[in-house]
Amino acid sequence: MAKPQKRFVCQSCHDVTPRWAGQCSNCKSWNTLVEETHANVAPITAKLSQSAGGRIMQMNGLDQEVTLPARLKTGITELDNVLGGGLVQRSVTLISGEPGIGKSTLLIQAIAEIARTQKASGGCCVYVSGEEHEDQVRLRAQRLGLGDAPVRLGHETQLRDVLTTLGSMRPAVAIIDSIQTMVSDAVDGTPGSVSQIKACSEALREFAKSKDGGCSLIIVGHVTKGGDLAGPRMLEHMVDTVLSFEGDRSHQYRLLRAVKNRFGATDEIGVFEMGELGLKEVANPSSLFLIDRAEPVSGACVMPTVEGGRSILIEVQALAVKRGDQGYPKRNCVGWDAKRLDMILAVLEARCGLPFGQADVYLNVAGNYRLNDSGADLAVALACISAYTEKPLPMGLAAFGELALSGDVRPVPYMSLRVREAKRLGFGSVWCPRLPAEIHRDGLSMREIPSLHDIVPHLLGHPK
Ligand code: TYD
Ligand code: MG
Repeated sequence: MAKPQKRFVCQSCHDVTPRWAGQCSNCKSWNTLVEETHANVAPITAKLSQSAGGRIMQMNGLDQEVTLPARLKTGITELDNVLGGGLVQRSVTLISGEPGIGKSTLLIQAIAEIARTQKASGGCCVYVSGEEHEDQVRLRAQRLGLGDAPVRLGHETQLRDVLTTLGSMRPAVAIIDSIQTMVSDAVDGTPGSVSQIKACSEALREFAKSKDGGCSLIIVGHVTKGGDLAGPRMLEHMVDTVLSFEGDRSHQYRLLRAVKNRFGATDEIGVFEMGELGLKEVANPSSLFLIDRAEPVSGACVMPTVEGGRSILIEVQALAVKRGDQGYPKRNCVGWDAKRLDMILAVLEARCGLPFGQADVYLNVAGNYRLNDSGADLAVALACISAYTEKPLPMGLAAFGELALSGDVRPVPYMSLRVREAKRLGFGSVWCPRLPAEIHRDGLSMREIPSLHDIVPHLLGHPK
């Protein structure tokens, strides 16, 4: 007869082990392991089937009161908004981005602010730099006017030393810059390898979540050339929040996006401008992408796009070079999907008779912004028509709408937000798909365009 299986269950964290110990290996509580009664112990066969021998779970209703997690404000409003209202205590946040995009700059600015506010309550803030030497980080902080912030700064890559230090300091907030530089002596592999990243992030997560200590942990992670987080995919599953810091190093604007957030929404973005004095919050992002002009130019059309629940006005610029019917026409697209441009040009040719097959077309989104919104179709089409005819669109015009292959202009999400942003920035007229009656049009000259056929003859100077 099979020997009955023994199991000991921690009364504090419900961890199960086959052997008794004085201390629970999971939650480190003392004298909490209790042997399950014989009736509850699963026979060996049940172990295989998994359908018997477990503990009965406690189930609760949806109507119970929920205690919202305590949050620490970083003092940087754009960052707090993306986090869902601040850093959650005992949470792990991963901030990813290309090298040089400004992750370390953002984090030194944030931790300096937190350290200043935490000083009164005695909470300490730690910045562990594995990448840059301490002096480099210190110099940067001093240049940004943060030299007097009570941040504890150290340069270390050995995970064991980092964890021992954090354990002795018990910080309120700790930053690890970056996970790719940390090495655990418990596993093989060079820093940045999958096994090292996995082991280091698991240990750091365990520290952040530990009941008798814990802290809000921010981990920096690099991305690969393809834009994915370097290292195992499971890194994203292990943390509570993943923020992605994006932008183009040759331009000053940066977008911070929540890719995953267990404690908040993922439809927030933060907009920053990188300047000589670090990152500055941009409360009015449209100002970054709009070009002030006294005279209208052909080929330019402004469109209100929506990023993370926020509307931003972007200028789309097109150039058409007529080249006859020799060879293939060139198409060049910066900041917009090249296949979508091909489709729009095909619609303009097939449905509106504009011979784009005989013209090279170049499309650029101002400010090196990456436009990923099918609501930009109408603005792209208008910019291309204006470039082809060399006739500027009316001044103060903003346009949005999705194009169907039939040439119909279709509604897009967040139309009222788009209209409001155009009005707020002083645009007098909006061309768009048919709008529902409840959208406020107050003071704006709206032109609803159900189909391109309704507007192209007018733009070509042949009104119906
Ligand atoms: P950094 O924060 O080191 O990027 P990451 O940690 O993501 O690798 O930012 C480096 C870039 O930012 C560097 O190219 C210089 C620029 N920068 C400024 O333009 N102004 C500043 O005040 C600072 C601190 C950096
Ligand atoms: Mg860095």
